[in-house]
Amino acid sequence: MSDLLAVDGLGRRYGDLAALDGVDLRVAPGDRLGLIGPNGAGKSTLLNLIAGSLRPTAGRIRFDGRDVTRLAPARRARLGIGRTHQHPAVWASLPALDNVLVAARLPWGRFRAGRRAKPREHARELLAGVGLTGVEQTLAGALSHGQRRQLELAMALAGEPRLLLLDEPAAGLAPPEVEVLASLLASLPLTVAILLVEHHLDLVYGFADRITVLHSGRHVHTGTVPETRSSPEVAAAYAGVAP
Ligand SMILES: Nc1ncnc2c1ncn2[C@@H]1O[C@H](COP(=O)(O)OP(=O)(O)OP(=O)(O)O)[C@@H](O)[C@H]1O
Ligand SMILES: [Mg+2]
Repeated sequence: MSDLLAVDGLGRRYGDLAALDGVDLRVAPGDRLGLIGPNGAGKSTLLNLIAGSLRPTAGRIRFDGRDVTRLAPARRARLGIGRTHQHPAVWASLPALDNVLVAARLPWGRFRAGRRAKPREHARELLAGVGLTGVEQTLAGALSHGQRRQLELAMALAGEPRLLLLDEPAAGLAPPEVEVLASLLASLPLTVAILLVEHHLDLVYGFADRITVLHSGRHVHTGTVPETRSSPEVAAAYAGVAP
C-alpha cells in the first residue's frame, strides 16, 4: 500500500542542538505506529514538524503523495492531519460541547464534519466516544486534566483526520483513565492512521503494530513490539531503563 505519510531526512536545529536529525518515517493508511524515546529525544519536535507548527531545517514531508513541507498547519489539517498536544489545547471558557462544535467548524473541519446536518448531535456523539458523557455543558477549564485530554481528542476527531498525531495522551492520567484511553484508541476506525507518542510503554505496546524509537534526535529503531522489547539499541537508548 502506498504511504500516507513519508518523512525523509527530516531535521530541526536550535543553534548547535539537533532536536531532530535526519529522520525517515513511513506511515501507511490505517497504521498504528508508536513513537517512543527518552525525554528530549525529539518526539514532540517530530510531531510538530509533521503538523506544521514547526518548520524543519532539513528534509521533506509528503502527505498522501503531496509535498507539505512548507504548508501552514491549517492547510495540513484540511488535508487530513489531526493532532493533540503534549499540553492539552482547549478553549477553557467554552463548554466542552462548544469546544467540539468550534473545532468541527474550523477551516479543516468545515470540509467534512462541519457539513453534518446535526452538528450538535454529532458533537455529543464524539464526546460520548471519548468517554465524556454528562459534562457537555461544563466549561473546559473546569474539567479534570484527564477530561481535557479526552476533550482534545474529541476535537481532533471532529476534523475527521486520516492521520492523527497524539502527543502523550496518557500523561497525567490516573490508571483507570489510562484503561479508558486504551479502549478508546483501540476503537478508533482504521480510516485513521495513528502516530502515538507516549512514555506509558504498556499503552504503546498494547496499541501499536510497529514502534519507532528516537534518541537524541536520531532514529535508532523501528520494529514490531517483540522486536522493540528485545532490541539492544532500544535498551541502550533508555540507558538501563527497561522499555
Ligand atoms: N524551542 C526550543 N528551543 C531550543 N531547544 C528546544 C526547543 N524545543 C525543543 N528543544 C530541544 O529539542 C530536543 C527535543 O525536544 P522534544 O520536545 O522534541 O523532546 P521529546 O522527545 O518530546 O521529550 P519529552 O518526552 O520530554 O516530551 C530537546 O533537547 C529540547 O530541549
Ligand atoms: Mg514531548
